[in-house]
Amino acid sequence: ALADHVRIVEVGPRDGLQNEKSSIPAETKIELVRRLAATGLETIEAGSFVHPKWVPQMAASDRVLSSILSSPPSSPHSITYQWLLPNIKGLGNYFKVMENASSAPHGYPTPPPSPTQDCGPALNTYSNDPNAMPSSTSGVESMSQSRRSASSTQGQDSGPAMNTSSSDPNAMPSSTSGVDSMSKPRQTASNDRNGHKHEVSIFLAATESFSKKNTNCTIQESLDRFAPLMADSKKAGYPVRAYISVALGCPFEGPDTDPHKVADLAVKLLEMGADEISVADTTGMGTAPATRKLLQTLREAGVRNEDIAMHFHDTFGQALINTMISLDHGIRTFDSAVGGLGGCPYSPGATGNVATEDLVYTLHSLGAKTGVDLEEMSRIGDWITSEIGKGNSSSAGRATMAR
Ligand code: HMG
Ligand code: MG
Repeated sequence: ALADHVRIVEVGPRDGLQNEKSSIPAETKIELVRRLAATGLETIEAGSFVHPKWVPQMAASDRVLSSILSSPPSSPHSITYQWLLPNIKGLGNYFKVMENASSAPHGYPTPPPSPTQDCGPALNTYSNDPNAMPSSTSGVESMSQSRRSASSTQGQDSGPAMNTSSSDPNAMPSSTSGVDSMSKPRQTASNDRNGHKHEVSIFLAATESFSKKNTNCTIQESLDRFAPLMADSKKAGYPVRAYISVALGCPFEGPDTDPHKVADLAVKLLEMGADEISVADTTGMGTAPATRKLLQTLREAGVRNEDIAMHFHDTFGQALINTMISLDHGIRTFDSAVGGLGGCPYSPGATGNVATEDLVYTLHSLGAKTGVDLEEMSRIGDWITSEIGKGNSSSAGRATMAR
C-alpha cells in the first residue's frame, strides 16, 4: 500500500473554467471555491490575472480573490490559494486586490509592494526596506545561491516510492549532477488575516509554437519576464509555482516534446527561485513510456521529486495511467479538476484535467492519504457541471453519486 500523503492541487476554478464559452457568474465561481475549500483540499488554484481579451472567463478573478480575503476559513487547516499570472501586469493586478483588501475591515494585513512597470527591468519598490531582496538578476542570483548552498541530502524522493523506485539504481538525484541547487526548502506562503495562504503561479511552454500562441512571446522572453516577476512575488511573500506546458506533446509540434528541453526549463525555473514546477501534459498526449522517460530525464538533470507536480489533462484517457507511473517514480503532488472540467483555450481539442474524484478514488485505493472527502467532492462535481450545463466527466464522481 502507498501509505504516503499525496497532495492534490485542485485547478478546477481556473483551468477547469477558463475555457467555458458561456459566461459563468462570479458568484458561481466564488461558490465553487468556497465548496472546494470544505472538502479537505490543501491547495486550490482559484483564478488567473491574464489579459481578459485572451481569456474572458477569468476576468472576475479579482472578485474571487476579494471574496476569499474577506471570508473566514472554511476548513480547520489553512488552505493555499494559487493565482495564475503571465507577467508583471498580472502580478500588479493581483497586488492591487490584496492592497484594497488590506484597507477593508477584514482584509489582508500587510499591503505588498505594488509593481510599477510592465515586463521590463525589475521593480524598485523595495528600496526603503532594509531587508529587501535586491530585485532583478541580483535577486535571482541570490535565490539560486541559497538553493545551491543547502544540503543536497534532501534531494531524494518525498517518501518511499510505491514499489520499483527503490530498486532503481538511478533513483537518487546525484548531489553533483548539475542541479544539487534544488535543495532549498519550499518557501512558506503568506497567511492573510483570515488564515488563508496565497501563492502565484506562472507558466511557460516547452515548445516555441505553444509559447507564441499562449503568451505571445518566445520561451526566452517568458524566462526574461519571470526573473523580475518571481523576485517581486517572493519578496512580497508569495511563493511561486511554475508550469511547463506541452511537456508531453504540443498541439502544433506533435507528441514528441524533447524531455531534455523540459528538464532544462525546470532547472532554470528552480534556479530562478520557483518553489514548485508543475509539469503539464496540456494535450493529454502523454503515454506511460513518455511519462517515464520525462521523469527519468528530470531526475538525471537533478530535479527533486518533491519540487515536481504532475498536471495531466485526460484527452486520451491516459491521465490515471500516467499518474501511476509518476507515483511509482516518487511524485507526490498532482493537479486535477473537479468533474474533469477544463481545457486550454490555446490547445485546440484538449479536454479537461484528470477529474479530482477519479484521482482521489485511485489514490485512496492505493492506501494514499489525500485528506479529501470523495463524497463531498463528487457532490461538487455534480453541482458545478450541471451549473455550467456540462456532463460530469468523472466516472468515480458519477458512481459515488449513484450509490
Ligand atoms: P500581449 O498582447 O502580448 O500583451 O499578451 P502586451 O504585454 O503586449 O500588452 C498588451 C495589452 O494587454 C496592454 O494593454 C497591457 O496592459 C495588457 P493596453 O496598453 O493595450 O491597454 N495586459 C494585460 N491586461 C490584463 N492582465 C494582464 C495583462 N498583460 C498585458 N496580465 C499576455 C500577452 C501574456 C498578456 C497574453 O498572451 C495572455 O494574457 N495570455 C494568457 C493566456 C492564458 O491565460 N492561457 C491559459 C492559461 S495557461 C494554461 O491553461 C496551461 C496550464 O493549465 C498548464 C497546461 O495544462 O499546460 C497552466
Ligand atoms: Mg492545464
